Amino acid sequence: MELFDRLDRHEMERAVLVHVDFHNEADREELDEFHELVDSAGAKICQLITTKRQHPDSKYFVGKGKAEEIKDAVALHEADVVIFNHALTPAQERNLSRYLECQVLDRVGLILDIFAQRARSHEGKLQVELAQLKRMSTRLVRGWSHLDRQGGIGARGPGETQLETDRRLIQGRIKQLESRIEKVRKQRDLGRKARQKSELPAITIVGYTNAGKSTLFNLMTSAGVYAEDRLFATLDSTLRRVRLPGAGTVIFADTVGFIRHIPHDLVTAFRSTLEETREADLLIHLIDAADPHREEKIADVLDVIAEVGAQDVPQLMVFNKIDKLEPAVEPKVDVDEHGTPIRVWLSAKSGQGVDLLMDSVASFFKGAFYTVSLTLDVKAGKRRAELYELGTILEEGYDEQGNSLFKMYLTRQEWEQVQQWQELLEAKVLSDEAA
Ligand code: GTP
Repeated sequence: MELFDRLDRHEMERAVLVHVDFHNEADREELDEFHELVDSAGAKICQLITTKRQHPDSKYFVGKGKAEEIKDAVALHEADVVIFNHALTPAQERNLSRYLECQVLDRVGLILDIFAQRARSHEGKLQVELAQLKRMSTRLVRGWSHLDRQGGIGARGPGETQLETDRRLIQGRIKQLESRIEKVRKQRDLGRKARQKSELPAITIVGYTNAGKSTLFNLMTSAGVYAEDRLFATLDSTLRRVRLPGAGTVIFADTVGFIRHIPHDLVTAFRSTLEETREADLLIHLIDAADPHREEKIADVLDVIAEVGAQDVPQLMVFNKIDKLEPAVEPKVDVDEHGTPIRVWLSAKSGQGVDLLMDSVASFFKGAFYTVSLTLDVKAGKRRAELYELGTILEEGYDEQGNSLFKMYLTRQEWEQVQQWQELLEAKVLSDEAA
């Protein structure tokens, strides 16, 4: 899609930024995040123009004088794009783009642009394209006939204007995307059921964007997940099976970073990641300890966790980037009155304290899983099928009498249940963790 591929194509596009202060006080935090977003999109910031207003101007969002100043800045820096730190109406975007003779992008468009660059899973890509198209359908100003080539959807009907044709093409594409997303979602649900059946403990890392989730995930899983100093380096949750000393085999999931003021249209694009959170056995809530706004961000993340119904999942708060703290904080674990770890302080970048986190996670799962060996009577065909339903079979063989020999892991409850079976000739625990 032409508009949204733009920042992607021209790696270092030259941007003039515009921020309007409506509250009569300079909001540094807003501006910092705005800078990070633009940087994430891969654009070069030439100039930031700020102004104060009571209300947005209906034509240009800013006043005529400010619009002139922006136009001068565009000429001076030979800028390719003007990016507003606000949501613009389609009319404002159009008017500005005409007046400034330059591309104009608002905050929603900017975030979508980043999503488009970062979406990795099939569903993530479809969701982003859908959000882009829905937004585009309200902003149509010119030809979209290239959609025709992309999607192969119908040709122009008799008597239609180009605009009508474009709208029709977009609506068709939206329908197509929606049905595809529905299919992908069904498949994902099946996949999740399969994962649930395996009964492996699932640990999901959540946190604000840029907290260091991918860095930590990498370190804990050595999975080589993409990590860089840009927002949204991960749009889709990434799953890895990892053997954790002391806890056994677990599944780690990395998720997309949270952000404030997430545009409404984009909430669905996050849903799959957020839904996974609800099914985790443990949430690692990762926090940039050196962020001056860390308390607000912690509260934001807790809100979202509650919104997706994951508030009852046990949480381990992990304060990352201790290397940036002043005064310095050594890696450490804070425990509650039962000795259960509740906070871990570490640096994912240097690796300091990561062993403490591993130990904390292991202590959480300790004793929840057993690796066992079982001998099942040759005549117990039904029980054999039940075992397959229950846990994860690591090995299956037969003795001379034809009895089944299993090596598998089970949860503690399953192990207790299986031991009652009459058909079980022999059973022993090999290790009190999932192998
Ligand atoms: P999103 O994908 O945007 O949600 O970000 P993320 O939370 O996955 O963060 P990521 O792992 O990409 O890290 C963001 C930046 O923080 C990178 O530049 C990392 O190198 C840096 N970082 C991560 N951990 C540490 C740390 O312990 N100390 C310092 N100083 N920097 C860190």
